[in-house]
Amino acid sequence: MDISKAMAEQLNRQMNREFAAYYSYLGMSAYFESLSLKGLAKWMRQQAMEEQGHALKIYDFLNSRNGLVELQPIPAVAAHYSSPLAAFEKALEHERGVSDAISKLRTFAREQDDQATEVFLNWFIAEQVEEEDVASEIVDRLRLAGDSKDGLLRIDHELGKRE
Ligand SMILES: [Fe+2]
Ligand SMILES: [Fe+2]
Repeated sequence: MDISKAMAEQLNRQMNREFAAYYSYLGMSAYFESLSLKGLAKWMRQQAMEEQGHALKIYDFLNSRNGLVELQPIPAVAAHYSSPLAAFEKALEHERGVSDAISKLRTFAREQDDQATEVFLNWFIAEQVEEEDVASEIVDRLRLAGDSKDGLLRIDHELGKRE
């Protein structure tokens, strides 16, 4: 069954949020690069690519259900933060917002009795649990490190191992 116009519009909005996350995380990666924190930069760049993957998942879903894909502008992003912790706090805040948006989206799909979209969104709901968990763990570790340069470099080394 083709997707309804209203549902497609909501999914387009979510796709735009995922692209915005991609862009925002790339900005954070650039900020870490500017500090020569190569591990954090690598980690965040991979996270950015994951967000692009999320956006493209929605893009593919819209196409497969004959929904119109609308590529709206992506907002410019900050390339500077007061600290690595501040950047990760922002990322965590963002992930919590996304979880909220996805859950509202699924409620909307249910109201529309669009079961295919509901099932599609289940993947995102599970993914968000992981995203929030990982981001909050890094925030915790950066808080633990506090002003310790040694601690920061240790975290940088750890996160640089991400494949
Ligand atoms: Fe995402
Ligand atoms: Fe995410």
